[in-house]
Amino acid sequence: MSDNIQTVTVLSKTTWTPNLFSFTVSRPDSFKFTAGQFVRLGVNPSRLKYYTEQGGMSDADISDEDIFRAYSIISSPFDEVLEFFSIVIPEGGFTSQLQHLQVGDELLLNTLPFGFLTLARYQKPLPKDLWLLATGTGLAPFLSMLQDLKTWEDYEHIVLAYSARSIEELAYVEKIESLQEDFGSLVENPAKLIFIPIVTREPVEGALTERLPKLLLDGTLQGRAGIDLDIDTTHVMLCGNPDMVDDTKEALKSLGLVMNRRGEGNIAVENYW
Ligand SMILES: Cc1cc2nc3c(=O)[nH]c(=O)nc-3n(C[C@H](O)[C@H](O)[C@H](O)COP(=O)(O)OP(=O)(O)OC[C@H]3O[C@@H](n4cnc5c(N)ncnc54)[C@H](O)[C@@H]3O)c2cc1C
Ligand SMILES: NC(=O)c1ccc[n+]([C@@H]2O[C@H](COP(=O)([O-])OP(=O)(O)OC[C@H]3O[C@@H](n4cnc5c(N)ncnc54)[C@H](OP(=O)(O)O)[C@@H]3O)[C@@H](O)[C@H]2O)c1
Repeated sequence: MSDNIQTVTVLSKTTWTPNLFSFTVSRPDSFKFTAGQFVRLGVNPSRLKYYTEQGGMSDADISDEDIFRAYSIISSPFDEVLEFFSIVIPEGGFTSQLQHLQVGDELLLNTLPFGFLTLARYQKPLPKDLWLLATGTGLAPFLSMLQDLKTWEDYEHIVLAYSARSIEELAYVEKIESLQEDFGSLVENPAKLIFIPIVTREPVEGALTERLPKLLLDGTLQGRAGIDLDIDTTHVMLCGNPDMVDDTKEALKSLGLVMNRRGEGNIAVENYW
């Protein structure tokens, strides 16, 4: 095994829906990361109780293959544990096994953090407003950033718009509300974090129902946030479904924003597949 790969232990698991769950693992002492980054997690059936404790399966029947996939870290860089938010793709090589995780199981963690969806990519002077736009599990890097006080200190307004198909898939709403309260109480403007839930396949009170690009192009999102997008004052990050990322990028460009390159520009993106 490579020097960068360490074994971590599953400490908790939360099931949101049959296709969505979260879990925490132990954090190796030496592992450092920046809010917004991702790691490579490895699963191996021979380390999961679901497979090893199944009656009738001999060791030879249980695969001993490590499979790795990229996962954004939800936890803040200061947390003692590492939290992740996962889809289940029933036919997926990785998540068809990962879905069976139980407390006490072991996973592999490549301790080299990756990724440039971090606020450090923007050079100073900082604009006033940060827009974080996510679909599905693409919420993960933004939860990490929102648990870092520096994010709250650096921006005047933070808009989090998070889109899921159904209300039950809109995970972490209570967590977001507690961040609004906890971090809001530490900064000058307690209403700094504007949360805009979007549920696209059923009507839900208080949530918008259209897709992000349409909401931006017709001004609904800006209206709900109470602030506008501006090339000089806005940073926007997109994360999740690659079609959403492409379509939203185009919508933002047509509204006058530009891609962030070498520290300059508004829009930064991360595709999950
Ligand atoms: C930078 C980066 C960070 C990522 N972070 C996360 C994360 O925090 N949580 C997470 O669940 N996944 C994340 N992913 C996706 C993850 O790496 C795997 O693709 C996912 O675990 C499915 O693996 P799989 O082998 O079961 O299916 P795969 O063979 O990898 O994917 C099969 C298909 O499933 C769909 N799919 C894959 N991932 C997702 C997803 N997250 N949401 C909806 N549909 C999906 C796509 O249609 C894809 O073609 C990330 C990917 C990248 C590149
Ligand atoms: N969620 C489920 O019930 C379910 C069940 C079985 C399998 N799956 C599989 O899981 C994967 C995706 O599941 P998911 O629900 O987490 O992710 P998703 O399909 O990316 O949907 C999450 C959110 O992104 C929105 N979205 C999708 N494309 C967009 C675009 N181009 N622009 C703006 N918004 C866009 C969706 O809106 P729309 O609703 O308008 O698409 C939804 O609100 C797929 O592979 C799917 O086949 C999901």
